[in-house]
Amino acid sequence: MKGLQVRNLNKSFGGLVVARDITLDLAPGDRKALIGPNGAGKSTFTNLITGILAPTSGEIRLDGRDIGRLSEAQRVKAGIAKTFQITTLFRSLTVRENLRLPLLERRGLTARMIGRADADPALEAEIEALLAQFKLSAFGDAKVDRLAYGQQRLVEMAMTLALRPRILILDEPAAGVPSSESPLISDAIAALPKDLSVLIIEHDMNLVFKVAAKIIVLVAGAILTEGSPQEISADARVRDLYLGAHHD
Ligand SMILES: Nc1ncnc2c1ncn2[C@@H]1O[C@H](COP(=O)(O)OP(=O)(O)OP(=O)(O)O)[C@@H](O)[C@H]1O
Ligand SMILES: [Mg+2]
Repeated sequence: MKGLQVRNLNKSFGGLVVARDITLDLAPGDRKALIGPNGAGKSTFTNLITGILAPTSGEIRLDGRDIGRLSEAQRVKAGIAKTFQITTLFRSLTVRENLRLPLLERRGLTARMIGRADADPALEAEIEALLAQFKLSAFGDAKVDRLAYGQQRLVEMAMTLALRPRILILDEPAAGVPSSESPLISDAIAALPKDLSVLIIEHDMNLVFKVAAKIIVLVAGAILTEGSPQEISADARVRDLYLGAHHD
């Protein structure tokens, strides 16, 4: 079986259950969104998948292989990546220099080789391709802190993609992005490689409806329902629990 398979995943912090018997599949090419009220356990779920947190019980498999006991770094190598956070960007380095970092990491080189790697044509070609993919070609030599916030978030996404993941988790890719720049984010998600599995956690419902083919609703650590955007927007329970509150 190809892709990510999560089976009966549970996680508690003391008496607080934050993941309750979560079973979920991400096949190659899937575009799924995980939505739910604040504190529902969305970020916790992503931390369980990436290995930042250990589950209380349950299984996480990639292509049928149990990865539940792998370290964070081993899971990245296996193909699971969560976007770099804006706070991890080197703001005084250029976009091109930032992109060089995950490419060096993927090749097992260290950041100290950042200067020497400059002379590696294959690596530089990959950087140019990433810049083009995220419409950042004109900003390659700009320092990150000179970019619009939405573009900085694209740099995070490009850096994550440089690791060549097969499963990509985007936790609130549009958080803090002004609505005028929100199309930058949805266009970038739409342009991701077709065979990549993508899980998007996002409160911006316009973005969710634009990019997700399936929506999973998480409430108090448990999956309430999974359906198409049409099904979810027509679900009275979802409207009551979540969409209503956000549209008020
Ligand atoms: N390390 C931790 N120790 C104890 N409780 C935690 C820890 N991390 C998260 N929690 C609690 O687990 C619950 C789920 O939090 P989580 O951050 O996963 O929610 P979320 O769905 O991502 O919310 P948001 O939409 O606000 O980002 C919350 O009640 C939170 O306070
Ligand atoms: Mg969260």
